[in-house]
Amino acid sequence: MTQISRDAVRSYYDRNTRLFLRYGSSPETQTIHRSLWPQGVTRIEQALAVSNNLVLEEARALHARLGHLRFTDLGCGVGATLFQILAELPTPTQAVGLTLSPVQAHIAAQARRSLGLSAHILEADFHHVPLAGGFDLVYSIEAFIHAQHPDQYLREAARLLNPGGRLILLDDFLAASDPRAGDWLDAYRTGWFVPHIQTVDEVTTAALDLGLVPSANRNLTPQLRLRNLPDGLARLILNIGQRLPQEHPIVPSMLGSMALQQCLAAGWIEYRWLVFEKQ
Ligand SMILES: C[S@@+](CC[C@H](N)C(=O)[O-])C[C@H]1O[C@@H](n2cnc3c(N)ncnc32)[C@H](O)[C@@H]1O
Repeated sequence: MTQISRDAVRSYYDRNTRLFLRYGSSPETQTIHRSLWPQGVTRIEQALAVSNNLVLEEARALHARLGHLRFTDLGCGVGATLFQILAELPTPTQAVGLTLSPVQAHIAAQARRSLGLSAHILEADFHHVPLAGGFDLVYSIEAFIHAQHPDQYLREAARLLNPGGRLILLDDFLAASDPRAGDWLDAYRTGWFVPHIQTVDEVTTAALDLGLVPSANRNLTPQLRLRNLPDGLARLILNIGQRLPQEHPIVPSMLGSMALQQCLAAGWIEYRWLVFEKQ
C-alpha cells in the first residue's frame, strides 16, 4: 500500500465534503459519520445523532462535576457534533473544533454564525494542535483513523487535557488478523484514506504511557446497519471499480465503503467507543 499523506486526506475531504453532506448525512444533522441504530431509533436523523448524544452524555457528566467545560473536537467535520453539544450544555462552556479541510472549516464557520454560537473553528492538524492545554474533554469521531502518526495524536490529546479530563475515540479498530482480510483492508484503507488501523490494545498501550487510563471500551458494531455483499460479488465490483477513472476521490471512497462493510461483517474491523481519563 502506498503511504497516505496529510495532503491526500485534506484533499479527500475538500473534494468530497459537499457530496458526503448531501448523500451521506441529513440536512438536520450535517454530520459526516456513520448512523447507529440502537433499540428505539427509527429515523436516519436520530441514527446520525446517536454518537453525538453519547459524547454529549460524557460532556454533561463532566460539566456537572466541574461546573464548566472546555472541550475540543479533533477532526470536527463541519462542526455538527460540536454545535449540538455546545447548544445543549449550560454555560460556562467553551468549544474549539479542528479540521484539516479548509472547505469544512469554511462551512463550519458559516454554520456557527447562522446558529449564533461562540465556538472557535480552526483549520489545523491534530498532530500539532495550535492551542495551549486546559481542556476537560477531547474527542474524535471517525477522525483518529486518519492520523499518519497515531502516537503523536495521543500525545497532543494528553497535552491538551487537564487531570481528570477525558479523551473519547469513536472509530474503526483492527479486531482480528486473518489472511483473507488483506485485500479488503487494503481497499478500505486506500478508498477512505486511512494511513493506519490499530488494535484497541495498541492504542491503549500508547495511551497508558501518556497517563491516559482506559475507562470505557464498547463495541458499537452491532448497532450499525451493515450492507455487506456476498464475497464473490463484492470482489467483482472491486475489480471493476479499480479499473474506473479514479481522478475524483468519490470513486475510491465508494469502494472503500464497500470494503469496510465486508471487514465489519467478517469481524476483522470493529467500530468502537473508547474513553480514557487523564491522570
Ligand atoms: C469522517 S470525518 C468526521 C467528521 C466529524 N467528526 C463528524 O463526525 O461529522 C473525518 C474528519 O477528520 C478530519 N481530519 C483528518 N485528519 C486530520 C488531521 N490530521 N487534523 C485535523 N483533522 C483531521 C477531517 O478534516 C474530517 O473533518
